[in-house]
Amino acid sequence: MEEDFGLLQEATREAEAAEDSRALYEVKMKFLGRTGKVTALLKGMKELAAEARPAFGKKVNALREALEEKFAALEEKLKRKELEAKLAEEQIDVTMPGRHTKAGALHPVTRVKDQLIDLFSGMGFEVFEGPEIENDYYNFTALNTPADHPARDMQDTFYLTEEFLLRTQTSAGQIRVMEKKKPPIKILSPGRVFRSDDDATHSPMFHQMEGLVVDRGITLCDLQGMLDEFARKMFSETSKTRLRPSYFPFTEPSVEVDVSCAACGGKGCSLCKGTGWIEVLGAGMVNRRVLENCGVDPDEYSGFAFGMGIERIAMLKYGINNIKLLTENDVRFLEQFKD
Ligand code: DAH
Repeated sequence: MEEDFGLLQEATREAEAAEDSRALYEVKMKFLGRTGKVTALLKGMKELAAEARPAFGKKVNALREALEEKFAALEEKLKRKELEAKLAEEQIDVTMPGRHTKAGALHPVTRVKDQLIDLFSGMGFEVFEGPEIENDYYNFTALNTPADHPARDMQDTFYLTEEFLLRTQTSAGQIRVMEKKKPPIKILSPGRVFRSDDDATHSPMFHQMEGLVVDRGITLCDLQGMLDEFARKMFSETSKTRLRPSYFPFTEPSVEVDVSCAACGGKGCSLCKGTGWIEVLGAGMVNRRVLENCGVDPDEYSGFAFGMGIERIAMLKYGINNIKLLTENDVRFLEQFKD
């Protein structure tokens, strides 16, 4: 280069000392940027005599081009080095084991509820869900349990006011359905119920599944046929049912339904306390009074109803010995109910 105004060497030295592309860029700006030293030379050109300018301009341009080439070469070198370092740092070890995400599972109560809905909808039942806060009429009076009826003592009720209470039974839904719908009726009503009761097999909140069938000519035989099918599907292919006389104000006759013990096949074991049978639900023919209360003519129609505790079914099905396990939600317990 004919003349470099002392800048070529200075810029080269500084550029070569730059440790990374960012530092190099700063050096580049110092010489070639808008306020850089080489640019300043061009700006100063107007001070020169007109005839001296072309030669001066040529020199400065030659210097600028030489520097640009130098910077470009250094920049490429540094960038390559930086890329290599980045790739080395971000290298992925494809042999590392992945992070495990734990999959949840349905709660046994939800599971049994879904199985029951599945089973009964296969027989033509439709689901109806009533309110958890009920009034005295739907929970008791309309179900043939007036205020002074001794059967009210069968269930310890949580009253909210004189009129409103936490429903003690999903049977309240029977009334709500019959008030709105004309027979034929075939409904299933799952839901939470509440009672002031607390021990290894009772919890103040639990779930019930109610069923109601009303039509012309419904008999206890229809109920038993349906229950046999329920027992076979829910417990085991060889399960049988047995009806024992019982009492509920809203059914007449009323029955308690036992299922042959699936653990011992009916021979007698500790689960069935040696009897071979396990009580699973209450049922009966809908009391004429209840039909009348809902405007259904008991001389034209008859029906059966049943109600079971979902926790109880889950405990029997999965061999759970304490109802509290179902509300504690300990993952070690719940994890056992995966498919
Ligand atoms: N509601 C009863 C209870 O909670 C269970 C029950 C018994 C429901 C007989 C019914 C029935 O529909 O017919 O103890």
